[in-house]
Amino acid sequence: MAESAATPGGPTMAEEGSAMRVDVVTIFPAYLEPLRLSLLGKARDRGVLEVHTHDLRDWATDRHRTVDDTPYGGGPGMVMRPEPWDAALREISSSGGPAPRPRVIVPTPAGRPFTQACAAELAREPWLVFCCGRYEGIDARVIEAWADDEISIGDYVLSGGEVATLVMVEAIARLLPGAVGNTQSITDDSFAHGLLEGPVYTRPPEWAGRRVPDVLLSGDHGAIARWRRDQALRRTAQRRPDLLADVELSEADRRVLAEVAREAAASAAEPTDADAAPASADAR
Ligand SMILES: C[S@@+](CC[C@H](N)C(=O)[O-])C[C@H]1O[C@@H](n2cnc3c(N)ncnc32)[C@H](O)[C@@H]1O
Repeated sequence: MAESAATPGGPTMAEEGSAMRVDVVTIFPAYLEPLRLSLLGKARDRGVLEVHTHDLRDWATDRHRTVDDTPYGGGPGMVMRPEPWDAALREISSSGGPAPRPRVIVPTPAGRPFTQACAAELAREPWLVFCCGRYEGIDARVIEAWADDEISIGDYVLSGGEVATLVMVEAIARLLPGAVGNTQSITDDSFAHGLLEGPVYTRPPEWAGRRVPDVLLSGDHGAIARWRRDQALRRTAQRRPDLLADVELSEADRRVLAEVAREAAASAAEPTDADAAPASADAR
């Protein structure tokens, strides 16, 4: 029934003692195949992450493996029935995971917003179960009985919880100790310190008439660190100023932000092409 992700020959959760276990319940197990690729695949190979994907229809009791029904009160679409969900969650919860019970997460547009802080919080859990809704969603009584968390990945509506689960598991898995080879890349990521990460460059030093900033070629680690911080501050001020409210700022940081504000005011005061254009044909 459950498809285990443990890699043959690789360290198991029991041997390693530290793997996070993730169970995903869905009517489309194939949607979760990307959990085998790239960093997630490596995290699984390293025994950092253990993933089990379950087909909800395995807990349906009729010949047609039905998991949905018409909504009470009328209206369009179908609603996922409570019995298969309850049976699935009972069996998974009692399957001997790394904690007495898992933290059960239901992706839904009506949930709390998924953020980096939320990913960090969930990365500290030993065992997560994601319940992927389809149709108009899951019968509300299942949510009342089982959900520890209802989480939204954004203000838009997907057709199912599978992609939302992929997004969350990928963001969480990056934060697991040992999942990413170079931990510095995680601590420098956008949102890690409340700021967006600045621009990044690689070879060649000049491409299509554009040069890599000289400071990055200087070998002066102090100057490079300051430049990166400045770029992160600039980008955050320009694109997501709302994030700055929660960032601890040094004197040097404040000077950079004041400079960005002066530049923005100066560019707003510059005449634009629209200002220069004649107001109407009569004016010509
Ligand atoms: C078509 S949606 C149901 C939407 C529901 N009728 C509503 O308006 O809130 C089907 C499933 O997709 C998932 N889903 C859709 N949008 C999502 C989002 N923004 N974040 C997380 N999950 C989402 C949920 O699991 C949901 O049960």
